[in-house]
Amino acid sequence: MIPFSYKDKNLFCEDTNLTEIAEQFGTPTYVYSKKSLLENFSKIDKAFGDYPHKICFALKSNSNNRILELLAEQGAGADVVSGGELALALKAGFPAERIVYASVGKTDKEIEFAIKNDILALNVESCQELQVVNQIAESMNKKASVSIRINPDVDIEGHPYITTGTSANKFGIQLGEAESCMEWASKQPHINLVGIHCHIGSLIDKLDAYIKSAEILVDFVLKLRKQDGITLNHIDIGGGLGIDYHKVLAEHGDPFTIDPKNLAQSVIPLVKETGCELLFEPGRSVIGPGGALLTRVLYTKETKGKRFIIVDAGMSDLIRPSLYGAFHEILPVIPAENDTLTADIVGPICESGDFLGKNRQLPNVKRGDLLAVMTAGAYGYTLANNYNTRGKPAEVLVDGNAADNIREREIMI
Ligand code: LLP
Repeated sequence: MIPFSYKDKNLFCEDTNLTEIAEQFGTPTYVYSKKSLLENFSKIDKAFGDYPHKICFALKSNSNNRILELLAEQGAGADVVSGGELALALKAGFPAERIVYASVGKTDKEIEFAIKNDILALNVESCQELQVVNQIAESMNKKASVSIRINPDVDIEGHPYITTGTSANKFGIQLGEAESCMEWASKQPHINLVGIHCHIGSLIDKLDAYIKSAEILVDFVLKLRKQDGITLNHIDIGGGLGIDYHKVLAEHGDPFTIDPKNLAQSVIPLVKETGCELLFEPGRSVIGPGGALLTRVLYTKETKGKRFIIVDAGMSDLIRPSLYGAFHEILPVIPAENDTLTADIVGPICESGDFLGKNRQLPNVKRGDLLAVMTAGAYGYTLANNYNTRGKPAEVLVDGNAADNIREREIMI
């Protein structure tokens, strides 16, 4: 569900006018819709129907405490990638038995923290890590719940930075090696082998890629049971469900690039054969479409053949365009009725790579006008930084016609 729409030529999030948000909270500000968050989560959750499953929200996409609390209240699980995220998930109310933790580089301290908290699974990404987990659990006189992240060598044919499931990537254990790892793990007194995991990448738009990796996981689980007598509790197919960054208004319909129902209906019959519970770890598809970065035009200027709109948000607030060449639609909050012009929308940062959009058609905007960078709910604030010693933006949660400041702006001067 996408919560943004024009009403009387003003851009709204649900029933709240973005101009009012800018006046009340300043800019740049991330604006999220509660309704969109809850509906998108519920659509994904319901798609899996009665089949035993957990939807573990990927905190790396958005880790605002209020957002996490809302998801935890809905019964979501959490996918974390560091001790810091694990601490945030626990604080927000996710029960430990619904938290999975993947990372190629967990420190001893992080592993100890996860074991101490009895999380559902440490998604272990190398045989060496497996040995370390066993040693740490032994020193704590505990049993660590472990799931093995395999690398299924399935290419989602996406951006190389967010493709994770091929043998060229650092993630997971190669299939050939995974069986002996599992066999070893199943014999360790301080390891409780509970599952198998993979995550092939982000922004996936091909159902086939999910089917292929699910087939690989299922074959592996069946073989493991038959040949080694090892049974697992769950199969975790990772996250990655794509959204369409060109669909930004309510009238554009659903934002997902794969219908969650199709995904569930394709994967469940495969997994059913194993009797395992199904885990899915979406991030972007839950929170991405319901967020926008609200920014104000500082200046406009022209060079030879180029027009620039300089706004108060930059790559330190939203790095996706600079880092991945990612497209975010940019809309005027109050569209002026004049000729459209082509311009680059750029930030204040001292880098030529600091842009939010290039060669965009926009009305002739002026100093003081507001723009909304759309579909910015995921991997927006979590990748924000203090480059150029700029404070991070505020975050605001809209619920109908109410707006709540869910993170204060970071003030530098
Ligand atoms: N599970 C694991 C193990 C992951 O590594 C990720 C994302 C997810 C789940 C969630 O994937 P999602 O459903 O959000 O696609 N910064 C990039 C995206 C990096 C994704 C990293 N891993 C971007 O802005 O496009």
